[in-house]
Amino acid sequence: MNQQPIGIFDSGYGGLTVLKEIVAKLSGYDYIYLGDNARSPYGTRSFETVYEYTLECVQWFFTQGCPLVILACNTASAKALRTIQQNDLARIDPSKRVLGVIRPTTEIIGRFSKSNQVGILATNGTVMSNSYPIEIQKFYPNINVYQEACPMWVPLVENNEYNSPGADYFIKKNIDSLLQQSGEIDTILLACTHYPLLMNKIKKLVPEQVMVLSQGEIVAASLSDYLEKHQDIAESCSKNGQIAFFTTDSAEDFDNHAAVFYGKPVKSTHLTL
Ligand code: DGL
Repeated sequence: MNQQPIGIFDSGYGGLTVLKEIVAKLSGYDYIYLGDNARSPYGTRSFETVYEYTLECVQWFFTQGCPLVILACNTASAKALRTIQQNDLARIDPSKRVLGVIRPTTEIIGRFSKSNQVGILATNGTVMSNSYPIEIQKFYPNINVYQEACPMWVPLVENNEYNSPGADYFIKKNIDSLLQQSGEIDTILLACTHYPLLMNKIKKLVPEQVMVLSQGEIVAASLSDYLEKHQDIAESCSKNGQIAFFTTDSAEDFDNHAAVFYGKPVKSTHLTL
């Protein structure tokens, strides 16, 4: 049987925070990571543009043989996933699967909140798509969702300024603005795969009883469940424990930045789409 790696996609580096957790949970599989760094950030782009870029990258994964692609990017999951699943896969190859990061998170978020008041911190694109309120409503109709777009956070992270005093100003501004929407928020989701790098700063700014969740482990657990339930897909994924990294921008830049997201050094290859 022809077995191939699982594809993991992000607009840039953020998906590496998800890949790290996926590899920790499912170390035996092979993975191909693609960061579309040349065109990131996606968070400020239109639906059409994010869809077009994401589809192009997904098709590249298919040319590499990947039977399953994870959009480890909330913006791409919010703006492109549904159309790809509902329209494009049937046309391109119905045997392929593309999954995102929003569904796994919204499915379980209710387990964490006692007050039923949940805050979402995300890119402008994810907030504008309303994907989180819509999806959470399906699973937990009693939960009220409050959203805050944090347009400066991805540039701070991508430019290695996430630990700087300048970052404090923007992080505090958005956290305050979210918490002002309801004094009862007891769970905050970092609904952007770049934001786990800001976790320490965020935790200092929220009351102690507020739980701050990032998505990596949640997505990894959900993928593990998915592969158990879909043996046909699991069997079409290769298992040599290998990972290949690709970026649409400079491989040297990627390698210099990627370690802080992935937790260890990375050697990538430049890709022209
Ligand atoms: N990492 C992406 C996400 O999870 C956002 C980064 C971007 O704006 O490109 O939404």
